[in-house]
Amino acid sequence: MAQKPSGRFEGEGLEGIKVSQTEVCFIDGGGPDRAAKLLYRGYNIHDLAVQSSYEETVHLLLYGTLPTRSQLDDLRRKLGGMRALPPEVLKFLQSLPRTAKPMDVLRTAVSALSFSDPRSDDVSVEVAREKGLRLVAQFGTIMAAWDRVRSGKVPVPPDPELGHAANFLLMQRGQKADDLESRALDVCLVLHAEHDFNASTFSARVTIATLTDFYSAITSAVGTLKGPLHGGANEGVMKNLNEIGTPDKVEGWVQKQFAAKQKIMGFGHRVYKTEDPRATHLRKMSLELGKRRGNTTLYDMSIAMEGAVKREKGLSPNVDFYSATVYHAIGLPLDLFTPIFAVSRIAGWSAHVIEQLSNNRLIRPLSEYVGAAERPYLPVEKR
Ligand code: ACO
Repeated sequence: MAQKPSGRFEGEGLEGIKVSQTEVCFIDGGGPDRAAKLLYRGYNIHDLAVQSSYEETVHLLLYGTLPTRSQLDDLRRKLGGMRALPPEVLKFLQSLPRTAKPMDVLRTAVSALSFSDPRSDDVSVEVAREKGLRLVAQFGTIMAAWDRVRSGKVPVPPDPELGHAANFLLMQRGQKADDLESRALDVCLVLHAEHDFNASTFSARVTIATLTDFYSAITSAVGTLKGPLHGGANEGVMKNLNEIGTPDKVEGWVQKQFAAKQKIMGFGHRVYKTEDPRATHLRKMSLELGKRRGNTTLYDMSIAMEGAVKREKGLSPNVDFYSATVYHAIGLPLDLFTPIFAVSRIAGWSAHVIEQLSNNRLIRPLSEYVGAAERPYLPVEKR
């Protein structure tokens, strides 16, 4: 393995290595003179963000095409019929310590959902698609129910008349959100739904490639998304903004972080070498929602941080940076930020699990051994 000037090995972290083909997602990371591009099955994320809905995106990812009107109506009906949780899962949520963290609850609840699925071990593509759709329907219900249960409130049942984003807000708050908030969350769900072979998707593919069950693959993905270098970064962003407090303190804080060789959450990306196209929409939404609340301080701090990080290190914001202030403006509690990512990304994970099952081969890379040379075994009393 060749060593790079940074001390890292060529291909470390699988950087720059293609491990499979996919029809689900295309990313061009862009460069200094070229905008980045993100396509879900050939459709540009800018078009999807502005014109589609999460349900349309789910159809595109799981069935391969944008839905016709009747397919969309059918999908909405299907999701509506699947949203409610099996009673044993609700009971399970009620049995948990109230201090349990939402991502940990989600990870364990996904695993528990397999108990009520008589076909949990069926790895045929058609059954996998059904399971994917059911999890798309239920992820939001699990997280909204948990948010209420942990605060001693009764879970609110879904409303089949509402879309996916509006349903989540209804079940979490106990009252209907207005159209602007529902649409803002809907756009967030579209933007987070899919992203090629990111760490959590790759872990789902590695897991299902052993032909284990769908729930195990998604449990792996949830656990992987939770990490602060991946989906957990949006919570880190918000904590940083809260800690800094005002726009005038941002520049000094950024310099201190860099001087201490600390990473700043919400910046940098393995694939994007310029602005993440999702950040473009989230930045705009962050401003709009801030103005609507009559307070753009968090947005102003974010803009100041973006400028300072760009100047100091040339790094651009990733999807997690502005999604933090958008979720905050919608009124979501901080520890639901990463779960909301999962509530959306379950669509992409499912599409990749289905694709992996359609043409499966065990994923088993090699490593370069750098440990001790072969040596004689000494019985314990001789060591
Ligand atoms: N803050 C400060 N420096 C950074 C940052 C950052 N956010 N991101 C990268 N760098 C620097 C690294 O220190 C490193 O510098 P060096 O070569 O001088 O040591 C260089 O840029 C390359 O960084 P790596 O960590 O090696 O890049 P990698 O591709 O492995 O990691 C990652 C990408 C994990 C996203 C990284 O940029 C990071 O840690 N960002 C902060 C966490 C974050 O926002 N994660 C969310 C990513 S989007 C998502 O997963 C949904």
